[in-house]
Amino acid sequence: MQPTLTAKVIAGEKEVGRLEKVIMDPLSHEISHLVVKELGGAGSLRQVPVQEVQAVPNEEEVQMRFSADGLERFPVLERDQFVTVKEVEIAHLEDNIHVEPGEVLVPLPCLEQGVPRRMFFANMTHAIGGLIALPLVFPVLKYLMKPMYAPFENNWISVGNIKKIKKDDSGVQFKFTRTFKEAFMPPQEVEKNIWVVKATPKTQEAVYGGNDKKFMDHKGDVVWTNKHNAPYVAYSGKCPHLGCGYKWRNVKKLGGEMFLCPCHLSIYDAAGKVLDGPAPRALDVLPIQVNAAGEIQIIDVEYKAGVNDQIRLL
Ligand code: FES
Repeated sequence: MQPTLTAKVIAGEKEVGRLEKVIMDPLSHEISHLVVKELGGAGSLRQVPVQEVQAVPNEEEVQMRFSADGLERFPVLERDQFVTVKEVEIAHLEDNIHVEPGEVLVPLPCLEQGVPRRMFFANMTHAIGGLIALPLVFPVLKYLMKPMYAPFENNWISVGNIKKIKKDDSGVQFKFTRTFKEAFMPPQEVEKNIWVVKATPKTQEAVYGGNDKKFMDHKGDVVWTNKHNAPYVAYSGKCPHLGCGYKWRNVKKLGGEMFLCPCHLSIYDAAGKVLDGPAPRALDVLPIQVNAAGEIQIIDVEYKAGVNDQIRLL
């Protein structure tokens, strides 16, 4: 049974809020979160994972697993990170969910998350306006929006040979070209780079903490696992602070060679750990494999800059 919006939210046999909206996964068409308006207090909108729902005895009531004071631990909804189904067309949505009478939210496409909402829609409008006449807007918009939720590419890209690496625990840059194809633009080639370190066992331990590192696709399925004792470690060429390119440099104040980002002077050791500067997390490790001939292949994963957690964008 699906509750109606404004249904009572019950936790620990007490009414703690009202169901205001639902958030759905645009790919699976399943509800991922409920947005619950707290009763009393600031009346904040809290984003509660759907797994917290214990039962929906009728359309007017949702029973939660957590206790009566448990609602506070869920994050306040960041409304700017979502669009409504009035703003983005999701095909066949109505097959899985009753979209009326309330609002259904979907996450703003990852590639647009750093862009203010107003600018995002303004850009979209300009692109469409140059291409089409008004009566065609709707089907074209549908076509343009869909690739934003396309799965990540998880292709292996050859970047060079390990012969280039002469020293252990030392950063060596490898460059490659990647082709991007936006729905409404011709293909574009982008020069990119990564850094590879031939890691000693101590550095491997510092990178992986003794655990294999899994990489997921957009659905959370594992696409590759880096073994914790594999000697070659690849890092994204983008600084996790704000995405600048960094270098392997001799940093006198710390007495040795390390990764230095010139933009805001974040410094990382060979294991990618932040030694100094504003970077919010360690360098981003990429999926890597090395074949018998020593050719290095990576998957060009990109994460959102400026945040503590790795949020995959590409
Ligand atoms: S972008 Fe690298 S330190 Fe700011």
